[in-house]
Amino acid sequence: MLPQIAEIQSRLERQHYVTDRAIATTVYLAMELRKPVLIEGQAGVGKTEIAKVLAASLETELIRLQCYEGLDASSALYEWNYPKQMLHIRLQEAAHVEGRSVRQAEAEIFSEPYLLQRPLLRAISHPDRAPVLLIDEVDRADEEFEAFLLEVLSDFQVTIPELGTVKAEHRPYVVLTSNRTRELSDALKRRCLYLWIDYPDFEKEVRIIESKVEGINHHLAEQVAGFMQVVRRVRLGKTPGMAESIDWAMSLMALHADHLEPEAVNATLGAILKDRDDVNRLSGTRAETIISEIGRLDPKDLATAAPSIAQRIDKELAPRS
Ligand SMILES: Nc1ncnc2c1ncn2[C@@H]1O[C@H](COP(=O)(O)OP(=O)(O)O)[C@@H](O)[C@H]1O
Ligand SMILES: [Mg+2]
Repeated sequence: MLPQIAEIQSRLERQHYVTDRAIATTVYLAMELRKPVLIEGQAGVGKTEIAKVLAASLETELIRLQCYEGLDASSALYEWNYPKQMLHIRLQEAAHVEGRSVRQAEAEIFSEPYLLQRPLLRAISHPDRAPVLLIDEVDRADEEFEAFLLEVLSDFQVTIPELGTVKAEHRPYVVLTSNRTRELSDALKRRCLYLWIDYPDFEKEVRIIESKVEGINHHLAEQVAGFMQVVRRVRLGKTPGMAESIDWAMSLMALHADHLEPEAVNATLGAILKDRDDVNRLSGTRAETIISEIGRLDPKDLATAAPSIAQRIDKELAPRS
């Protein structure tokens, strides 16, 4: 491994982000080539967190653009502060300021102090150092917005008709994330480096839990991770991610549980399952089955055994309507 990649890995780990070689390599290349990185994966696998820890490790600002359906260019780039403009006009009228042409008055209210910078403009016009620009859940925005985004990401400059062109002095590091609710355009993908993050395997999950849940004992972390490895393979309405494992481990800690036992598990299933059907499917004896099955296994055999334990549970259950 290149020393620079190892360095990135340890930087991210210092921010409590458990990082494998693939992640560290992509982050390194994105920084070297100054390309945006597009991270895809299921919900809760640690996509957004990469941008956060990257900003923290570079000691720079994180600027976040949260995408949603209907997000348009002006809410992403800039808007004029209309109430402030109106107020300015009213105050001038009241003060009977005269002798100014319409043109002058207009120039006044379409100037910097009346400009509301939205995330993209803030990232482009960042004054001192390159910020990290997180364009989160880009699959939620529509294709039209994606095309606009491509333009911004290709030259990092924006023209504001009333003010002129703003060009980035410090090109931001760009991280885009997508939960894959729709396919992104080829043009956008071509511009980016691509990183797919899967659900963690058992070892990675243990490490993440141990780095995020203070004071947890190794045995409980292993049990939680093992349980989750099975649960993710059971047919559920909503498969839990890392956020849920961490929440669950924290809930168990709050109940002073130092190992998994059926009662505590059933009482805390709400931390990992967010759907009534899913809770019904796993509560009671089925949670017990998982606990006893993973208890009998050597952790190293878990990866191979988890699918068959999950299959058994699926079989026990009536088909989902
Ligand atoms: N590799 C990891 N190391 C440490 N924490 C992680 C890791 N992956 C996920 N997490 C934690 O899991 C939670 C969900 O991560 P997040 O980035 O919000 O998921 P996503 O954006 O993929 O939906 C966060 O609390 C994050 O800290
Ligand atoms: Mg996210």
